[in-house]
Amino acid sequence: MSDPTLYPVSPEWAERALMDKAGYGAARQQAQQGPDAFWAQAATRLDWITAPTVIKNVSFDRADFRIRWFEDGVLNVAWNCIDRHLPTRRDQTAILWEGDEPTDSRAITYGELHGQVCRMANVLKAQGVKKGDRVTLYLPMIPEAAYAMLACARIGAVHSVVFGGFSPDSLAGRIEDCASRIVITADEGLRGGKTIPLKANVDAALERVSGVETVLVIRRTGADVAMVAGRDVAYAEAAAGVSDDCPCEPMNAEDPLFILYTSGSTGKPKGVLHTTGGYLFWASWTHELVFDYRPGEVFWCTADVGWVTGHSYVVYGPLANAGTTLMFEGVPNYPTVSRFWEVVDKHKVEIFYTAPTALRALMREGDEPVKSTSRASLRLLGSVGEPINPEAWRWYHEVVGEGRLPIVDTWWQTETGGILVSPLPGATDLKPGSATLPLPGVELQLVDAEGQVLEGATSGNLVITDSWPGQMRTVYGDDQRFFDTYFSAYPGKYFTGDGCRRDEDGYYWITGRVDDVINVSGHRMGTAEVESALVLHDDVAEAAVVGFPHDIKGQGIYAYVTLNKGVEAHDDLKKALVAHVRKEIGPIAAPDAIHWAPGLPKTRSGKIMRRILRKIAENDLTSLGDTSTLADPGVVDDLVKTRAQH
Ligand code: PRX
Repeated sequence: MSDPTLYPVSPEWAERALMDKAGYGAARQQAQQGPDAFWAQAATRLDWITAPTVIKNVSFDRADFRIRWFEDGVLNVAWNCIDRHLPTRRDQTAILWEGDEPTDSRAITYGELHGQVCRMANVLKAQGVKKGDRVTLYLPMIPEAAYAMLACARIGAVHSVVFGGFSPDSLAGRIEDCASRIVITADEGLRGGKTIPLKANVDAALERVSGVETVLVIRRTGADVAMVAGRDVAYAEAAAGVSDDCPCEPMNAEDPLFILYTSGSTGKPKGVLHTTGGYLFWASWTHELVFDYRPGEVFWCTADVGWVTGHSYVVYGPLANAGTTLMFEGVPNYPTVSRFWEVVDKHKVEIFYTAPTALRALMREGDEPVKSTSRASLRLLGSVGEPINPEAWRWYHEVVGEGRLPIVDTWWQTETGGILVSPLPGATDLKPGSATLPLPGVELQLVDAEGQVLEGATSGNLVITDSWPGQMRTVYGDDQRFFDTYFSAYPGKYFTGDGCRRDEDGYYWITGRVDDVINVSGHRMGTAEVESALVLHDDVAEAAVVGFPHDIKGQGIYAYVTLNKGVEAHDDLKKALVAHVRKEIGPIAAPDAIHWAPGLPKTRSGKIMRRILRKIAENDLTSLGDTSTLADPGVVDDLVKTRAQH
């Protein structure tokens, strides 16, 4: 995997960048030696109603566990993302919206954004939403998604955005977990020329969960959707009746800003909770530093707002930095595989940030669809979500960037709020496939399974030894689960769940998850969730799910399925099971391979030996290890024999 070739910082970049090599070294040192002074100074980038005097109050120890940043500070996120820019930037474009069809685009100025967000905030208030209430958003990539997030922030409500690709069941589970009384959705979504029945999905979800009193329905396609009297409200009508001015609620820095559900290695998805001051600071600071961002530059992060990348780098980071953020409703291959690059040319995008899975899919289409476009406006490329293989890195660098653009490979997680490990374009020499070095203030360690700290060039589990302002604060409603998941494996340290190698230059190379989470096209999926969905099917007795290498998706989903007695294994049943998982969780969870397993390899105490299942799925049949401790070693031989058929 590793590639020793070094791509040094160019003289132009060293010259223009906000942070050069010396600046990076100095900032790391300052953050280590005097964290309070360092972060207090850095946090002046935000507009505070009351500036914080207590900067960091953190302990990762069980006895006095706490994570608090800027705790006596008071601010409002919407103010920071909109109002404070108005005196000088009222007419600057805040959101450049590019619809699914290339003919459909719109520029929304900061002045317009203010009016729209205020209106939506007033509609929420009129529906009885108060500070601290949870509001579920189930929306396509339309400007109203950003308005809704900012409207919640403006009045102190806590948003929970659920990706539009999730099923009614998944949506219901998330509504229930945070007890939302209001859902904001659209009639339909539109992606790649296909419609997504969002409102119908909400209706189906609400048959399974009670407590939702209001569904606000935004018009996107104009489809004729069923409206439940007394519950469903057409947004346009409600918005026409309210003022376009709404004051900002003063929020404590540690008041919740949003919940975002993400998959873990066990159980149901966790509600990752981020708070107001630390999160906004981190989104804004990292956006400026990593992308060397200047106000007004056209920044395009291709992520959906249903994921954390969309929260931090479509909405909060760029808008806090007086940016112009491009919001794309569509997909990379519609109407043609040149779409990304055509959008870059159309809107003169300067910074482009996407996921390796999209690059690998486009790479397969050859260079011509890229080369037929100019891309002259680009000055920086970014990657996020999964390890980028050196081959994809080089294609991105040479074909998309014509060898002239640095690539920032940014490692982070839903839990981290924003980027933690990444090159800085003016400070860090690049190595294809490495996320390189931690940002100032981020203290990494590699440890072995027993928690021994590993020094020098080595591989181990990636932990973080101290807090940073953007760190998640808890699992919504379950402090114990928060502590147990992240702080119990290695006491006093945050465990990322990732394996990692550090090379002789101290560069970090993320090797992927070491827990039962798989990363499918840059999206996290818990194997336990897919297993639960499979065993809900009438014909399934047992299921075990693992990841396996996939050319485009990075990892694919490989499911071993044991059928109930008397049920015949056949291809139509495979299709039915795939369809069943899509329905239960959503299309992103659909298994790529189903392996009929008469039995699963288990220890005598009944624990499934996932290590062996992973090897078989990877088709690495030479090193299955010792199988003699299995309750029935013959099971493995059966699976190996039938591997070829999958
Ligand atoms: O395994 C790492 C991988 O994605 C996981 C986090 O997933 P999620 O919370 O969905 O957030 C994705 C977007 C930030 C990590 O534990 N990951 C993310 N970025 C990278 C990565 N792996 C390697 N290189 C990256 N740049």
